[in-house]
Amino acid sequence: MPEEKENSKEEIEVFPFIEGNIIDLVAQNSKWAELICKWRNDPKVRQYSRNAWPRSLDDVKKRFETVPDRHTRDSVGFIMYHKRDKRPIGDIGLNRIDWVSRHANIFAMIGEPEYWGKGIVGEAAQLVLKYAFTELNLHKVRAGVFTPNERSLRAAEKLGLNKEAVTKEAIYVDGKYHDIHKWGLTKKEWLEKNKTV
Ligand SMILES: CC(C)(COP(=O)(O)OP(=O)(O)OC[C@H]1O[C@@H](n2cnc3c(N)ncnc32)[C@H](O)[C@@H]1OP(=O)(O)O)[C@@H](O)C(=O)NCCC(=O)NCCS
Repeated sequence: MPEEKENSKEEIEVFPFIEGNIIDLVAQNSKWAELICKWRNDPKVRQYSRNAWPRSLDDVKKRFETVPDRHTRDSVGFIMYHKRDKRPIGDIGLNRIDWVSRHANIFAMIGEPEYWGKGIVGEAAQLVLKYAFTELNLHKVRAGVFTPNERSLRAAEKLGLNKEAVTKEAIYVDGKYHDIHKWGLTKKEWLEKNKTV
C-alpha cells in the first residue's frame, strides 16, 4: 500500500481552477489517467456510481484527446486535489448540461476511500454549486442518489439540496432494484441560502 500511495502522489505542477480550504478543484489532466482508471474500476468506489462496465486505461485516455467545444460541451469535471496531502483524491463536476433549460446534474466520486466521511465532498460540492450558478449562470442543479448510498444521501441533505422525487425501482445494483432519490436546487434557492456569497 505505501508503494501505491507513493505512486498516486502528485508529481506534476498543479494549477487550481477553484480554490477551497481542504481541497482545490483542478482541471482533469491526462497524467492522472491511471489514477482515474483505478477509481472508475474499484468495486468499493463504483458501487453506487452507475459504473457497471469496466473502464480501460485507453477509454479514460480518449477523454483527453479532444478539447470540448465551449459552446456545445455538456459536462465539466474537476479533480479534487487535497491541498495538505498534495494528492488527487477524486473527481466532481457537472454533466448532462442542458443549455436551453439551463440545468445540469452534479456528480462526485472520492476515489480514495480513506478520505470518505471527512466532509470533503461537502466543500467540493459547494464550490461546484457556486461555479454553476455564478460562472455558468445555470438555473438549476440536480442530483440522483440510489437508496443504499446512505453516505451520499446524507451529503445531499447537508448540502442543502431539496428532495424533489423518488423514482421507484429505477436502478439495478448488486442483484436488486433500488429507488433513485432526485434532488434539486435552483439558483434563486442557492442565492437565498448564500446571501453573503
Ligand atoms: C458518497 C461520497 C461522495 C460522500 O462524500 P464524503 O466526503 O465521504 O461525505 P461526508 O464526509 O460528508 O459524509 C456524509 C455523511 O454520511 C455519513 N456516513 C458515513 N458513513 C456512513 C455509512 N456507512 N452509512 C450511513 N451514513 C454514513 C457521515 O457520518 C456523514 O454525515 P454526518 O456529517 O451527518 O456525520 C463519497 O463517500 C464517495 O465518493 N463515495 C464513492 C462514490 C459514490 O458513491 N459517489 C456518489 C454517487 S451518487
